[in-house]
Amino acid sequence: MYMPTTENLLHIVVDSLSRMDSRLAGHGERVAYGMLLLPAPGFTPEELSHMLWTVLFHDIGNFRPMEIADLLEMEQHENFSHARYGYFFLKQFWPYQEFTPMVRYHHSGSREIEASGMDEKNQWAAKRLQVVDFVDLYRIGHPDAGRKEILTALETSNSRNFDVRAVEEVSGLVRTLPAIPQEELPDRAHCALLEQFRQARTSERERKMLLETLVRSVDFRSRSTALHCVTVTHISEHLARLCGLDALETEAVRLGAMLHDLGKIAIPVEILECPGKLSGRDWEIMRSHVTITRELLEGRVDDTVLQIAVRHHETPDGTGYPVGLSGEQLSLPQRIVAVADVVSALSEERSYKPGFPVEKVIEIVEELCRQGKLCPKVVELLLAHREEICLSARQAGQTVAEQYQRLTEEYQACR
Ligand SMILES: [Fe+2]
Ligand SMILES: [Fe+2]
Ligand SMILES: [Fe+2]
Repeated sequence: MYMPTTENLLHIVVDSLSRMDSRLAGHGERVAYGMLLLPAPGFTPEELSHMLWTVLFHDIGNFRPMEIADLLEMEQHENFSHARYGYFFLKQFWPYQEFTPMVRYHHSGSREIEASGMDEKNQWAAKRLQVVDFVDLYRIGHPDAGRKEILTALETSNSRNFDVRAVEEVSGLVRTLPAIPQEELPDRAHCALLEQFRQARTSERERKMLLETLVRSVDFRSRSTALHCVTVTHISEHLARLCGLDALETEAVRLGAMLHDLGKIAIPVEILECPGKLSGRDWEIMRSHVTITRELLEGRVDDTVLQIAVRHHETPDGTGYPVGLSGEQLSLPQRIVAVADVVSALSEERSYKPGFPVEKVIEIVEELCRQGKLCPKVVELLLAHREEICLSARQAGQTVAEQYQRLTEEYQACR
């Protein structure tokens, strides 16, 4: 019941991906909109919708700033590793597996696409995606370019080995489309995509998987946080049941825990992986992940879920952030996720510390509780059930650890 609607999910996805790198803000949505405007031969509404969700995430492997710079320069790069990384990543989580191959080949030449063994729909999509992608990147790089310059850029793009038909179709689109003012584009794109997704009815299970993919992409930016959200979610859920929360409250806890660090999508990897203690400006940037989480989720998830997500660094003694709430201002579900967050972070390896064994985690948690940083009721339950909680959290983390490992191996193998 708390899973966001398709409309809200689309907002969350587009805004979150836009925060990864401000230069590519809105890129995925504009490209998906361009793809929607092309006549997709033989696609059912469901297939079209699955393909367009995939297009929204087509640059998900693009977490290295260097590579974004390359994309914007639009030079001929043999090694578009983000396409392969994105493909291997989506293969682990994506609800629409039938369209993951197009991501792998979205920067390949048309002959390579034809030799890829992909089915016709993926080939069609990969060939168009790279041309629509090219046009959008060109517009980002040349904000004042008019229709004529874009068409010239397309005409002279033959060194990229684009598919001739795809170039013709996209040129036709550029030629015939009424010039949409830049500021109206996001709204137009959003409405058109939403209508398509509604027609195909994105199920609750699909929405959950789409959201999970987004969350994993944040966790997977750093090896040390790869298991963080899955562990926090699991421990939180366990504690919620021990606290006697009902099914609906537990669901809110689960979703709030899952989304609690979404704002980290906007935090530079150098800060996430800083080997020492953060200070000054960097610490401020790190702390801002909570405010960003709020910006991404406010009005798009139920308020109960939102408050759980954005209060995981508040403490009962009022010394937490971002607001410094205290005591009764923090609900039991919010305190649960705060405890789970600390347990998870202590158990995991970080760039500035090793992962601690259970006994040390418990020792630190007890000390934090004595200092008024964690809720005594929740900590008491954690202590009484430490073995089972740690065991089941480890088991939950195991699946994601295997996915992370598989992704890394597959990606390394084809570099
Ligand atoms: Fe792209
Ligand atoms: Fe956090
Ligand atoms: Fe966290």
